[in-house]
Amino acid sequence: MKICCIGAGYVGGPTMAMIALKAPSIQVTVVDMNATRIAAWNSDTLPIYEPGLDDVVKQARGKNLFFSTDVVGNIQSADIIFVAVNTPTKTYGVGTGLAADLRYIESVARMIAEVAGGPKIIVEKSTVPVKTAETIKEILSANTKGIKFAVLSNPEFLAEGTAVADLINPDRVLIGGERTPEGEAAIKTLVDVYANWVPRERIITTNLWSSELSKLVANAFLAQRISSINSISALCEATGADVDEVGNAIGKDSRIGPKFLKSSVGFGGSCFQKDILNLVYLCQSFGLPEVAAYWESVVLMNDYQKKRFANKIVRTLFNTVADKKIVVLGFAFKKDTNDTRESAAINVCRDLLTEHANVVVYDPKVPAHEIISDTLGKGVTNARLTVATNVYEACKGAHAIAVVTEWDEFKTLDFAKIYAGMPKPAFIFDGRNILDLAKLTAIGFRAFGIGK
Ligand code: UDX
Ligand code: ADP
Repeated sequence: MKICCIGAGYVGGPTMAMIALKAPSIQVTVVDMNATRIAAWNSDTLPIYEPGLDDVVKQARGKNLFFSTDVVGNIQSADIIFVAVNTPTKTYGVGTGLAADLRYIESVARMIAEVAGGPKIIVEKSTVPVKTAETIKEILSANTKGIKFAVLSNPEFLAEGTAVADLINPDRVLIGGERTPEGEAAIKTLVDVYANWVPRERIITTNLWSSELSKLVANAFLAQRISSINSISALCEATGADVDEVGNAIGKDSRIGPKFLKSSVGFGGSCFQKDILNLVYLCQSFGLPEVAAYWESVVLMNDYQKKRFANKIVRTLFNTVADKKIVVLGFAFKKDTNDTRESAAINVCRDLLTEHANVVVYDPKVPAHEIISDTLGKGVTNARLTVATNVYEACKGAHAIAVVTEWDEFKTLDFAKIYAGMPKPAFIFDGRNILDLAKLTAIGFRAFGIGK
């Protein structure tokens, strides 16, 4: 069997590497029109940082895992084609800022229709709005050659930073397809691929729309938990309660559970905001404004939390950060990834720059040029924004430190040494609640957490 995956990004790359590793009899080729990205997948420095991924790729690459720019050739020879191209939020026209931009999906569907020489199973892997499979099906069935295509939805639930562990041991694999004999046969083919390593009882099959909607709803529920605890963090700061203590107490209720109750400077990543806005757009389109408003509030609370963090820094530093040096520790949207999409750090840096602070950013994995372009826009520079390669050097002479990503290395910094090099009073704002505030206070810092 041959699998081709179109899109060598954060989803396509790791997922296909795992299929290749666990199903040695299947030949897996990941294709992308971005030649630089493909070259990186074929090199010793993979284009994405993900713990454990190097090993997985090294074991399978060249045996049954290949990375190529030959999109057409690999479409033609594949039995199953995964579509893992990007689906960003629309920045123009109808649905601007809410709806998903499906042009990459559509162009892939058109290309498959044009070049495929025989029947194929098309698997939607990218997160897409409900009913996208319908669009893909329509484009494919309009091909002039009378070829039969089956379209499946198989959303990916891996989280960045833990992708390899999530792929090896997923809570569930979800496969949606048409409940026709052809659809059922296609579902069975894909179930058998995953059954190479995933226990059958964890492979769930549904109709197409349930599968597409479940992905959006899973992300909306996870993000909702973060916004819920973040809303409580503001109340904790006002009342003297401690948000970690509240989170721990409520999480012990087995009906609530302990995960995704960590208050933070705000959630980021390519999925949560995009998928909720997609859900909002879907509800609006189906005439359900109350449902749309309910889910939109999750994103609004997240915006409020990011703003509140930056405002707190300004307010605490005597209402002015103009010309003060502020060190931002971490720029990725979470630890163990080099991905910065929708990272709270972007908003925090922008807000501090608006207040004319001198912002110095340090992140162990995000390249300097990306930090600058994410914050200011492509090609734009600002003398007030610089990137450091050494935390201790960066903190010398700083008025305040803001921890924005929970990288493990920040927990073991020598804060006494850092404190000695800062003007007094020295401030530290822990946007991830990873530091021991009592210890920092004992050193002399004026230390603040979220919801503390
Ligand atoms: C998410 C979903 O978890 C995953 O199933 C889906 O496939 C893609 O979207 P991801 O965005 O990669 O994955 O990471 P996740 O671990 O969910 O974190 C998202 C954001 O929420 C990060 O910014 C993280 O720091 C933040 N977060 C997470 C919190 O602020 N508090 C928490 O308790 C958990
Ligand atoms: P995700 O996080 O969903 O994996 P990425 O943006 O990291 O998203 O990856 C999507 C990839 O899909 C990009 O590398 C992009 O070049 C690729 N892509 C988009 N459209 C096409 C296409 N028509 N043919 C081949 N590759 C494509």
